[in-house]
Amino acid sequence: MSIDASSPLVQPARPSGLTRRRLLTSGLGLAGVAGLVMPSMAAYAAVEAAKDLVVTNYRPVPLGWPDAHRLTITVVADLHAGGPNMGLARVRQVVDAAQALDSDLIVIMGDYFATHRFITEHVPHAAWAAELGRLKARLGVYSILGNHDWWYDVAGVRNALAGVHIPILENDAVLLDDRGRRFWLAGLGDQLAHRLGPSRFEGVDDLPGTLARITTDDPVILLAHEPDIFTQVPPRVALTLAGHTHGGQIVLPFLPPLWTPSEYGARFAYGHIVEQGRHMIVSGGLGCSKVPLRLGVPPEILRVTLGA
Ligand SMILES: [Fe+2]
Repeated sequence: MSIDASSPLVQPARPSGLTRRRLLTSGLGLAGVAGLVMPSMAAYAAVEAAKDLVVTNYRPVPLGWPDAHRLTITVVADLHAGGPNMGLARVRQVVDAAQALDSDLIVIMGDYFATHRFITEHVPHAAWAAELGRLKARLGVYSILGNHDWWYDVAGVRNALAGVHIPILENDAVLLDDRGRRFWLAGLGDQLAHRLGPSRFEGVDDLPGTLARITTDDPVILLAHEPDIFTQVPPRVALTLAGHTHGGQIVLPFLPPLWTPSEYGARFAYGHIVEQGRHMIVSGGLGCSKVPLRLGVPPEILRVTLGA
């Protein structure tokens, strides 16, 4: 099933008073929200997490990207491999679906393994990495790391990706040549890499250092696990791609996400965001954090098309 999100986009309004910090302060995180969901709705949310898989299409038209350069990108975000909803068979299904899009470039946005409560199937790093290693694209497959990778086993994730020859862009950029049309693919270090305390983090992100790697005028695509960096991304970057939020993961009908892991609440929770001419697309991701439930945000793979 495909959702075409390329039509005029509506930015979700920031919910009044429901910021992450306030919810954390009151002791009500995503797990608490899930605990409030009625049992029948929770059962549905478990099914939605495990069964629905959509491809969401975007056709952004950023000023910094030449119309004449058509580029397709498949975005795989927040895999969180681990049962019940993202066991190895499901990871295979995701990889098959991503590969079937036959994009020019594939990017993988971090948070590779499940760390939520209620894991029923442990998927070893070598197993999910072997599946991701099947991904092939004309211009390559690139990755970044997420906060869960840093918090729980960053060395293991690095080794697993190295083992299947998927490069990690960490405050780094590569100049790709697409049949004579060049562009930069940059990847930011994780913004929440070190937990210092409740709601206190120290990142390993270095946006100035990353941008300093860009030494020509060619267009730039930036990969950032968390979308919050967007407020600092200069117009020089044509498109920022992000994940991390899971679109709120549990979203009740007609309401903004109850909880979003962002300092900006729902502002960057999901979708195509355009601010001051700068473009960002935030994936709702594939797996789950905290609890293996999703509601109103089906697991998705993004297909982004730039250029005419
Ligand atoms: Fe994350």
